[in-house]
Amino acid sequence: MKIGILGTGGIARVHIEALKKIPGAVVSAIAGRNYERTQKIAMEFGISSPYSSYEELIDEADLEAVINCTPNFLHAPLSIRALDRGHHVLCEKPMSTTTAEAEAMVKSAHNAGKLLMPAMCFRFEERTMMAAEIINEGRLGDIYYIKADFLRRDGQPGGWFTDSKTAGGGALLDIGVHILDLSMFLSNCGRPVSVKGQVFYHPAMMDGIIGTDKWVSVNQDGNRDVETFGTGLVAFDNGITINLEAGWNQHREKDLLSLAIYGTKGGLQIYPELRLFRNKDSKMVSEELENLIPEETENGRFKKQAQHFIQALKGETECTCPAEDGLKSVQIIENIYNSSIL
Ligand SMILES: NC(=O)c1ccc[n+]([C@@H]2O[C@H](COP(=O)([O-])OP(=O)(O)OC[C@H]3O[C@@H](n4cnc5c(N)ncnc54)[C@H](OP(=O)(O)O)[C@@H]3O)[C@@H](O)[C@H]2O)c1
Repeated sequence: MKIGILGTGGIARVHIEALKKIPGAVVSAIAGRNYERTQKIAMEFGISSPYSSYEELIDEADLEAVINCTPNFLHAPLSIRALDRGHHVLCEKPMSTTTAEAEAMVKSAHNAGKLLMPAMCFRFEERTMMAAEIINEGRLGDIYYIKADFLRRDGQPGGWFTDSKTAGGGALLDIGVHILDLSMFLSNCGRPVSVKGQVFYHPAMMDGIIGTDKWVSVNQDGNRDVETFGTGLVAFDNGITINLEAGWNQHREKDLLSLAIYGTKGGLQIYPELRLFRNKDSKMVSEELENLIPEETENGRFKKQAQHFIQALKGETECTCPAEDGLKSVQIIENIYNSSIL
């Protein structure tokens, strides 16, 4: 299975590492604007065909699939081009920057008869699988409310990530999308019927702060005109409401990744630690499940994600992460942005 990589930044490397561990998967082409960097990565990973243009790779390379690891504004145009050329596409999150783009992507995949899968890697964590099993056994009863937080203390990435022209949005579209998608996936939440939200623009809060380089983009140029914090309340047609918060530069003790799902018979905390809350012998009890989660191997969720993509495009399994789900997340976040403007 020959796969091409669009992009040469942080996440491109993660995908290449993951694919190396999958028998039969070969990364045979890679493209980036910076040819020197592209050649260097090609040498490092033994990729035979480096390209200096994303379009050239899509049009000319002999491939079955591409992984789109470019900045958000290129997700729709490059994925559509790849689908039209007959490639299956695994597209990094967010699937696009607008609902209109996501709809066009879904349509292209349908017309081409190819798989378009948004890369929602949190779905492929061991803890997610355990949580899904507990929920699917009906142990929470009817789910009615989800609190989903992805807050970084010092994680404003800069570069294209903070420029609305290249990113399309800020913390909500960058990290909020992960926890929103996971909430919707685990709760089987139905169709969104109401979205309210508020976004805040405080990029200058990080001026003069010497941060970690954990989250930075490969290039640091770019405007800083996207939201640094956003919150949304999303109601669905089956009675579930998600309360979402995402921020890059919160003044708080440490980063917080937190997901709590409340049902009529029980509650499940997925992050920071897996715990089930339920009734037993007329009392509410807590069950610690964290140490029952199978140990996650390095790069594990990305490997499982790539394996699932490959199996799904071969028709060996149904894709559990369809493009329509990528569209739904983008549509909700777009509505949070719109609802905070009078
Ligand atoms: N699933 C996850 O957990 C996860 C984690 C991180 C990122 N991501 C997603 O992956 C995508 C890439 O993120 P990243 O962290 O890899 O970013 P990055 O490290 O900044 O790399 C971005 C890539 O795009 C190229 N690029 C940058 N600006 C460009 C522009 N204006 N026009 C065309 N190409 C440009 C960069 O290299 P050149 O300058 O050489 O072209 C590089 O190849 C994003 O959509 C992001 O949301 C997902």
